[in-house]
Amino acid sequence: MNQFTSREAEVDVMNFLNEISYRYPEAISFASGRPTDKHFNIQRWLESAAKFIEHFSVKQGISYQRAEQLISQYGKTNGVVNELIAEQVRKDQGINCCDKDIIITNGCQEAMALCLLSLCREPDDVLLVCNPTYIGITGLADVLDIEVCSVDYHHEAQLLQTLGVKIEALIADKKRPRAFYLMPDFDNPSGLQLSLQARQQILELCSKYDVAILEDNPYGLFQYNGEPKPALYQLDESGCVIYLGTYAKTLCPAIRIGYLILPPHFLGDVQRQQALSDKLSSLKSYLSVNTSQITQAILGGVLLDNQCSVESLVVQPRKTYLDNRDTLVAALERFFADYRDQVSWNIPAGGFFLKLTLPFKFNSQDVAQCAQHHQVICMPMSYFAQDNQFDNCVRLAFSNLDRDQIVLGVERLSRYIIEKLAAQKLRIDRQERA
Ligand SMILES: Cc1ncc(COP(=O)(O)O)c(C=O)c1O
Repeated sequence: MNQFTSREAEVDVMNFLNEISYRYPEAISFASGRPTDKHFNIQRWLESAAKFIEHFSVKQGISYQRAEQLISQYGKTNGVVNELIAEQVRKDQGINCCDKDIIITNGCQEAMALCLLSLCREPDDVLLVCNPTYIGITGLADVLDIEVCSVDYHHEAQLLQTLGVKIEALIADKKRPRAFYLMPDFDNPSGLQLSLQARQQILELCSKYDVAILEDNPYGLFQYNGEPKPALYQLDESGCVIYLGTYAKTLCPAIRIGYLILPPHFLGDVQRQQALSDKLSSLKSYLSVNTSQITQAILGGVLLDNQCSVESLVVQPRKTYLDNRDTLVAALERFFADYRDQVSWNIPAGGFFLKLTLPFKFNSQDVAQCAQHHQVICMPMSYFAQDNQFDNCVRLAFSNLDRDQIVLGVERLSRYIIEKLAAQKLRIDRQERA
């Protein structure tokens, strides 16, 4: 079993990385998937709030001053910028939905919490996740004491083969697979993107067994190669997809605004959708009352200023990330040129993460050694995994570094890895001679 299967262990991972970053502040860190802050435009965004308040006052038929007072009060549980978000996802992602089917949340993290709390309520309810997957969901399931069943995801063919088998095995075991959490676009941590065919097959399988799909899409607008693929939500005819979104990467994390979009008929049933919507809303009212209307006003103003699209906001960051990805791949090619038979990596078509595969296990001890002796920090893939299959992989986040840091960081990491390879070879040679 993985060393990080309990909540304590997951908290430990985060504490450990924070501790390492704190102890070695000069180290170049490939650990964090933060967006670049180069393109944040805070002053302008703050000023945009007035535009939304104006819009709100006109819509409500009240004075600007009254609108300002109402926005500063407690507000509607499900949010006040829902129609603008509905328009934004329609324009940018081709997602057609009603504003009443949107619940605005405190980041995507709260949307995930609401979904798990409302879908997995009985002891036999199980959450399916990919192996490896985002710590935010498995950590949450652990906190809520929800059983997790993982589906291996080295590549999509494996995911498709295993998903149905796992669902059937759970049912045979009298368990209820209630939801499947996944990121079809530029998965965190693996960087993988599902093909259209894979999306259709996953939808077919989940709708056959009444399994809700939690489609998390924080990185979909950061695509560097190929044509964008339709969201599962768009392809869904049976009503099994709940779409999860966030403005953490398209605007900035501090906005703390995410959302969930319910399908019009949840698992084919309008009443079931209404019941779920009511449940989610009631849970939210007890968890966080409502999402800050001040940050919603900022988001609303930014959307109004940009014709309800974030495309113009992501153009520059997307260029930065593409440049970073190419710099990272070129640096890997350069510093591991003589080790291509032992060290490999994927070239993600989008997102913030690349997976490096090594011929030895890379764990917390390696992180500490890299930081201490080589001034570079990265995340073992085992932190995201449910077992030991990914112990020899590393996640490299390339979103919040500049070119020079990436090159220097890879050079430093390569020194550590090459030293370890040499030591490994020496050990094998000795064993063979003995
Ligand atoms: C897969 C995934 N989901 C969601 C989020 C963001 O969540 P939030 O909107 O709560 O910041 C992240 C951020 O790192 C993420 O990687």
